[in-house]
Amino acid sequence: MERLQKIIANSGYCSRRKAEELIEKGKVSVNGEIITDLGTKANNSDTIIVDGNKIETQNKEYILLYKPRGIVTTTKDDKGRKTVMDLIETKNRLYPVGRLDYDTSGLLLLTNDGELTNLLIHPKNEIQKLYIAKIDEAVNPQTIKKLLSGVIIDGQKTKADRVKIKKLDRRKNKTIIEIVIHEGKYHQVKRMFEQIGYHVESLKREKFAFLDLKGLNSGEYRHLTTKEVKILYSLAK
Ligand code: URA
Repeated sequence: MERLQKIIANSGYCSRRKAEELIEKGKVSVNGEIITDLGTKANNSDTIIVDGNKIETQNKEYILLYKPRGIVTTTKDDKGRKTVMDLIETKNRLYPVGRLDYDTSGLLLLTNDGELTNLLIHPKNEIQKLYIAKIDEAVNPQTIKKLLSGVIIDGQKTKADRVKIKKLDRRKNKTIIEIVIHEGKYHQVKRMFEQIGYHVESLKREKFAFLDLKGLNSGEYRHLTTKEVKILYSLAK
């Protein structure tokens, strides 16, 4: 048995706070009975309706996928392209935690735990993501430092938490840069580099919080352990 607001938030319908508001407003019923008491508990076999929508309660599943390039991070694609869901076998309805671009590879989490998803993608929780960006130019190390003091994206100052040049090959005109960010704005890393005059040729996410891609080849996935899920919750709260 779990508190109603937690079950609603876990389903991904809305945040726990919003669920509490909806309960207090009399918008939630359990097995046909309107509930307004925030202490009410229910379980997965109860029928929970919020504002006319049935809440799907499934067992929680957490997947860590090594997304290849050339795959879209959606559950369905209008253009019929391969999606991350095509790489995963599951009976559950999973959703990606944030997104990676079609041409970005690397670590992507997928889950049906809406509460954890909301916590992980909220910028205030500052979950760090580490990317490796390849640039077909020999970059100026001073210019790269501007990413630490911040560039303007979507009208907001956006800073990298860490930037490190891993390899700078002046002869071949190539640079490999490690960059850590904690927000998830659309095309964030590519746009941050554009702001300082560099085009990202390829991008890979190597870490999401403490999780990495060890033991996985491109296109492979594994389930998170209970301990890993617990740590993600503790980092985000
Ligand atoms: N930043 C980007 O520009 N693209 C991604 O896929 C992820 C972060």
